[in-house]
Amino acid sequence: MWDEIFRERPFRLETSEFAKECIRYFPKKSRVLELGCGIGKDSIFFSKNGHKITVIDFSKEAVKKAEKNTESLGVKNINFLNQDISKKFNFKDASFDVIYAHLALHYFNDIVTKRIFKEIGRVLRRGGIFCACCKSTNDPLYGKGKLIEKDMYVLNGHVRHFFSEEYFKEKLKEKFKIRKLWTGKTKFYENSSAFAKVISERK
Ligand SMILES: C[S@@+](CC[C@H](N)C(=O)[O-])C[C@H]1O[C@@H](n2cnc3c(N)ncnc32)[C@H](O)[C@@H]1O
Repeated sequence: MWDEIFRERPFRLETSEFAKECIRYFPKKSRVLELGCGIGKDSIFFSKNGHKITVIDFSKEAVKKAEKNTESLGVKNINFLNQDISKKFNFKDASFDVIYAHLALHYFNDIVTKRIFKEIGRVLRRGGIFCACCKSTNDPLYGKGKLIEKDMYVLNGHVRHFFSEEYFKEKLKEKFKIRKLWTGKTKFYENSSAFAKVISERK
């Protein structure tokens, strides 16, 4: 599905507002892991600001576009990996200073989400920063389609797991200290959407 989306839809290479907020928390010259980079807009922004980026995204089409974008902009320090976020991460413990996920973690059921957060906690060093932005339970699409499990629906083949602030708190309580947690309505392309966002620190 993602390959089809990236082949057919035009995406803008505009840095997200979330990335602009998060970068203020990044230590200088961080080793950043981005989960689900799409066409690479936020990775490119981080890279231009002196950080060293590794990306995992399982869409070959997204990675192809992201690589093309980095090439045309002369950006060099991004390492793109075609991998599945829901599988064990192929990195050693404490390999990163920052882990960043913009609209890439709200596709998995609770068990898989738990596993992903565990992996994030494993590959992020102590004191490292984890930032995530997910569709929130205030989103206009919440409740539409077929209910799969709590706060998770499939609509026209698209699976969405909507996050609340409480859900983030619950998932982060063991290994992370929350630095900022907020929900906001915003326009995402033509649609109005609501997102739950967190910036946290590995304990
Ligand atoms: C809504 S896009 C967001 C892309 C980008 N972060 C942005 O803000 O434009 C979701 C991204 O997550 C990726 N993705 C979804 N499920 C994934 C999985 N299981 N493993 C790796 N990447 C995944 C998709 O290929 C896509 O690039």
